[in-house]
Amino acid sequence: MYDFKPAAETAKPELYHDLLQAAEALTAGERDGVANMANVAALLWEFLPQVNWTGFYRMVEGELVLGPFVGRPACIRIPLGQGVCGAAARSAATQLVQDVYAFPGHIACDGDTRSELVVPVMSDGAVVAVIDLDSPDLARFDAEDQSGIEALAAMLSGRI
Ligand code: SME
Repeated sequence: MYDFKPAAETAKPELYHDLLQAAEALTAGERDGVANMANVAALLWEFLPQVNWTGFYRMVEGELVLGPFVGRPACIRIPLGQGVCGAAARSAATQLVQDVYAFPGHIACDGDTRSELVVPVMSDGAVVAVIDLDSPDLARFDAEDQSGIEALAAMLSGRI
């Protein structure tokens, strides 16, 4: 029904511009947060090369709970401060991890994962969810990925 898959060699600025536009269009006017997270998780999977998990953890009663995602089944609950997602949620700051085995307390949901990018989604000054991207490649994510996903997270504020 929707076909958003970008060309294989699309440069990151264009890729994130197109991703943001697609996510904006898919979530505009839809008030169901689960539906919006599900579509954005699928878009991330379609758009980003070299990823093995794309999705959300939601802040529920003071801990992170698994949300819509694409990839292998994952850890369901993550306490604040634990792992890369828990660090992002507690600090309300993006975590760009080039080598997950060098990250203290990393939660290995999938032993294939080598690098991660986790970006908090804020609403009214509080973390309401995190976007979690995992890759089987070392150092898969860089500053361009970070700013692209941070723009996506800002757009999603109030929509998830
Ligand atoms: N590895 C993550 C946990 C979530 S899974 O990768 C889907 C972490 O340390 O936060």
